[in-house]
Amino acid sequence: MKKLIFATPGNEKLAASLSSLSGIRTGKSTIRSFPDGETYVRIHDDLKDSELIIVCTLDHPNIKILPLYFLCKTARDLGARSILLVVPYLAYLRQDEVFNPGEGMTSRYFGKLISDMADGIITVDPHLHRYHHLNQIYSIPGCVIHAADKIAEWIDLNVNNPVLIGPDSESAQWVKKVAEKAEIQFIVLQKIRTGDRKVQISIPGGKLDSALTPVIVDDIISTGHTMIETARLLSSYNTNLPICIGVHPVLDDISYNKMLESGIKKVVSCNTIPHKSNGINLDELYIPYIRQFNDLSFD
Ligand code: R5P
Repeated sequence: MKKLIFATPGNEKLAASLSSLSGIRTGKSTIRSFPDGETYVRIHDDLKDSELIIVCTLDHPNIKILPLYFLCKTARDLGARSILLVVPYLAYLRQDEVFNPGEGMTSRYFGKLISDMADGIITVDPHLHRYHHLNQIYSIPGCVIHAADKIAEWIDLNVNNPVLIGPDSESAQWVKKVAEKAEIQFIVLQKIRTGDRKVQISIPGGKLDSALTPVIVDDIISTGHTMIETARLLSSYNTNLPICIGVHPVLDDISYNKMLESGIKKVVSCNTIPHKSNGINLDELYIPYIRQFNDLSFD
């Protein structure tokens, strides 16, 4: 069966890389905005009976979801038999509970929306906190790629005497895996978030060896405040300047610069979202799952 890789705008580099690693050709589409903000979609390939892989990272999901939806619908109308989404960053996972009366469970609504568009999904380290599996909110098969080994390799090559720091209990799952792979010690801190841009961090036990270089690892860097507050805390222990690693750099330039101005030596991210901090390439990890298209399972 014919397979083709398509990209929504901004994902062309990853699509080209997946094409060259897998040998699956990229398809040609035009997706652009009309002056009034509406989206134009055209697919230039013959899709009859094809299997499509659509690469579409979903940071800033509100503006990206409709072009993706239109691309999927157009592909179906043109005869595509199945659609596999490669979504390196999967948004809307943090509202995994009704924290205050009257709130919407946006993680569920988003999961339903995506599940209605495609036949499978591949993503990287989704923010699973109160959910344990994506299949609690996604009804299509899929698989989760873990960045831990690649992060561990990067630390091994680039940092002397590292100690891994998880800024909060949610980060423990990522930090523990990286620490095990890199065979280094780790500490998970305690974080209290009091607002979108306000967090308080503390070290349980209150001890840290100042000879070590802290490497703070988290899944998402958004405003950067979690990392900044963690770096501020570490500076009071006279450690070397910390290095921050995020799987998903959801941050804008202002937040990125603020991080670098606040006593952080370097910010490094995985290339799940194109960003100047990208330093850890995950592309090859998608390939086995793209090839086994019909055999995906979140287990
Ligand atoms: C939260 O639960 C995530 O794991 C990250 O810690 C959080 O999204 C980071 O956000 P920010 O960079 O805005 O502090």
